[in-house]
Amino acid sequence: MTEDRPTHRHASVGNDAAQHDPESRFSSRSIRSFVLRQGRMTAAQQRCLDEMMPKIGIPYRIAPLGLDEAFGRVAPHVVEIGFGMGESTAKIAAARPDEDFLAIEVHGPGVGNLCKLVAEQGLTNLRIVQHDAVEVLRDMIGEGTLAGVHVFFPDPWHKKRHHKRRIIQKDFVALIASRLAPGGYLHCATDWQEYAEWMLEVLSAEPLLANTADGYAPRPDYRPLTKFENRGLKLGHGVWDLVFRRTGTVE
Ligand SMILES: C[S@@+](CC[C@H](N)C(=O)[O-])C[C@H]1O[C@@H](n2cnc3c(N)ncnc32)[C@H](O)[C@@H]1O
Repeated sequence: MTEDRPTHRHASVGNDAAQHDPESRFSSRSIRSFVLRQGRMTAAQQRCLDEMMPKIGIPYRIAPLGLDEAFGRVAPHVVEIGFGMGESTAKIAAARPDEDFLAIEVHGPGVGNLCKLVAEQGLTNLRIVQHDAVEVLRDMIGEGTLAGVHVFFPDPWHKKRHHKRRIIQKDFVALIASRLAPGGYLHCATDWQEYAEWMLEVLSAEPLLANTADGYAPRPDYRPLTKFENRGLKLGHGVWDLVFRRTGTVE
């Protein structure tokens, strides 16, 4: 049966549809949580991307991904959604060598930058998928397989008419919860108060998740303070962390 889910999205790069709708390279969904920003790739990012993606890049496809095979060992798996330039991702992977990190992002220069950090630091516990995280979780990640999911500073989509583009939505949170193993955690962070309140409401309403805190959580030590966040905190701006765990017993 053919449906509106092409099996080879990367094959569409360069064709007419992709030129008019560049995001379609990375997602078949009509309401997307991202807009591909222009952003130039530096020569070093491009070089590292060309060198590293064949080694640590995992192409999107509609088929379950064997996470142990992808990392070449058995270890807990943590997914990061929308890693931006990947600075926090690389720091966390370096600080937690006994866990494996699947980092998902659509923005090319960000992917190039994380490839550079991985190459410079010789990180072996990080893999990258350059695709819409919603489709990656839906199509590639098995139920109950993840130890954790990080969503740090997702685009707040400030305007009310854009709220539907926010990545934290009831259905996506239900999907994330289904991919977590019992006891696995979902950690979100935002510097936009109204989005924090939205996150708290959506996460609290998910039956498979339980809040680890009474409302917002203290920032876990493993999440590094970003330069941007540090500057904001000095100006008195807030940052809100939310850490929820999947309920149920580990079998
Ligand atoms: C505001 S930035 C934050 C980046 C990073 N987490 C940080 O803390 O600096 C949000 C990032 O999420 C990415 N993004 C948004 N929706 C996405 C999706 N559905 N799949 C993958 N990446 C996505 C965007 O490209 C962007 O780089």
